[in-house]
Amino acid sequence: MQNNVLILDFGSQYTQLIARRVRELNIYCEIHPYNKIPENLEPFKAVILSGSPFSVRAEDAPHPDLSQIRGHKPLLAVCYGAQYLAHFNGGSVEASDIREFGRAKLSMIKAEEDFFKDIPENTNVWMSHGDTIAKLPENAVRLASTTDVLNAAYRIEGEETYAIQFHPEVYHSTHGKQLLENFLVNIANVEQSWTPAAFVDTTVASLKEQIGDGKVVLGLSGGVDSTVAAILLNKAIGKNLYCIFVNNGLLRKNEFESVLHQYKDMGLNVKGVDASERFLKALKDESDPERKRKAIGNAFIEVFDDEAHQVSDVDWLAQGTIYPDVIESVSVNGPSVTIKSHHNVGGLPDFMKLKIVEPLRMLFKDEVRRVGKEMGIDPELLGRHPFPGPGLAIRILGDITAEKVRILQEVDAIFINGLRKWELYDKVWQAGAILLPVNSVGVMGDERTYEKVVALRAVESTDGMTADWVNLPYEFLQEVSNHIINRVKGVNRVVYDISSKPPATIEWE
Ligand code: XMP
Repeated sequence: MQNNVLILDFGSQYTQLIARRVRELNIYCEIHPYNKIPENLEPFKAVILSGSPFSVRAEDAPHPDLSQIRGHKPLLAVCYGAQYLAHFNGGSVEASDIREFGRAKLSMIKAEEDFFKDIPENTNVWMSHGDTIAKLPENAVRLASTTDVLNAAYRIEGEETYAIQFHPEVYHSTHGKQLLENFLVNIANVEQSWTPAAFVDTTVASLKEQIGDGKVVLGLSGGVDSTVAAILLNKAIGKNLYCIFVNNGLLRKNEFESVLHQYKDMGLNVKGVDASERFLKALKDESDPERKRKAIGNAFIEVFDDEAHQVSDVDWLAQGTIYPDVIESVSVNGPSVTIKSHHNVGGLPDFMKLKIVEPLRMLFKDEVRRVGKEMGIDPELLGRHPFPGPGLAIRILGDITAEKVRILQEVDAIFINGLRKWELYDKVWQAGAILLPVNSVGVMGDERTYEKVVALRAVESTDGMTADWVNLPYEFLQEVSNHIINRVKGVNRVVYDISSKPPATIEWE
């Protein structure tokens, strides 16, 4: 795979956004921590320095050696990056009286510069900094200002080095993407060849080479990532890919059968394993959310291990890991780098000792969908809401019984089908129903009832880290509530969850 752009991360909350904007320009890029600059810089055609929560004046702030980069590669320094270049090259950075956060207007733009091609005077830019560049570094030319920040953009004479105080990666910077394009395409001459089709071609070719005649097992979940990973591997190695789709009995109504059918239609070599009873047994009398998760995780490992043993001479375990799980994050509490901890190798089940293949490890979620679309995967499957691994177990508060699962599956199906019928499904990021561990009094006909309460939850989000409840139409809620109470035996009350995350979470457990 061709590396094109190197993004050095100084710990900014926006670093991943820079990468996504660059990828949207069909340019491949990789994020590396500032203190692990790749030794071989050959493949990188340009470098971007990210922002940071640090002040460049702080003693423990990131101070990497850029001597192999500056002046050798086109360089764009964003926010902290811009201050870093100024601070150590004859300029000065000071604490500002005015901390600038939020929208600002970029003015006195040097319109004749390629860097600002097609970017108008007074365009909105997003600022997020406490310090300010009081004096530009040596040989710098100011390119733009804002009302509060004189040195909002500069370049270094005689080098392809550009620096900006604002964040082009944030959507509020109206021409941010144009600016990245100006730098990467017009100044650094980076090719815009990173397309889903190119990704599929190069990945299939490299999987073929990597795996050869080896056998691969992969656990399908019904979600987007594992499905796209399976289709890529199927293209590369066909029947040597052994997919295992486990029914834990906690999926949505009819989901196991219908998704298994879809997988077979896609030509996958897939085995459906109905282990509902085993999971239900493992969950018996368990009410604590974390213990439920553990019980399900352990049961899954047992089932998967049994199944993987049925395939003789397996060499590889495939996983649908995506880029946000892989990026090493820069710790803001110190210059050290935190890496995700790994399992204790000694006690691992056999399948975990296999070699790992992760075809999606360099993709963001939206890119996984684009690759899936490119390979002809059903758009309905690609647009499916996220669904937690422990499934309905964490939406049944308290202990779990087969009857509670049945009730919740019915309620959830009415809600989700209703969203589809009202064309609201794609406007919602995630939706589901929760079975509460309380009964409430109701009246049906002349009878007093004392039955279950369910909550409906629908949220808007981009990555699940924060979320807002969705303002669903009253008429819709009315119809769904009527259907649920009339059709699902055991439920006599429906409520709608109007909590945002934070402070609430998306799931109730
Ligand atoms: P919370 O409830 O933390 O959920 O706001 C954020 C996102 O993560 C999903 N989620 C899980 N997914 N195993 C998973 O695979 C889990 O244990 C789990 N808990 C929450 C949740 O559905 C939402 O998309």
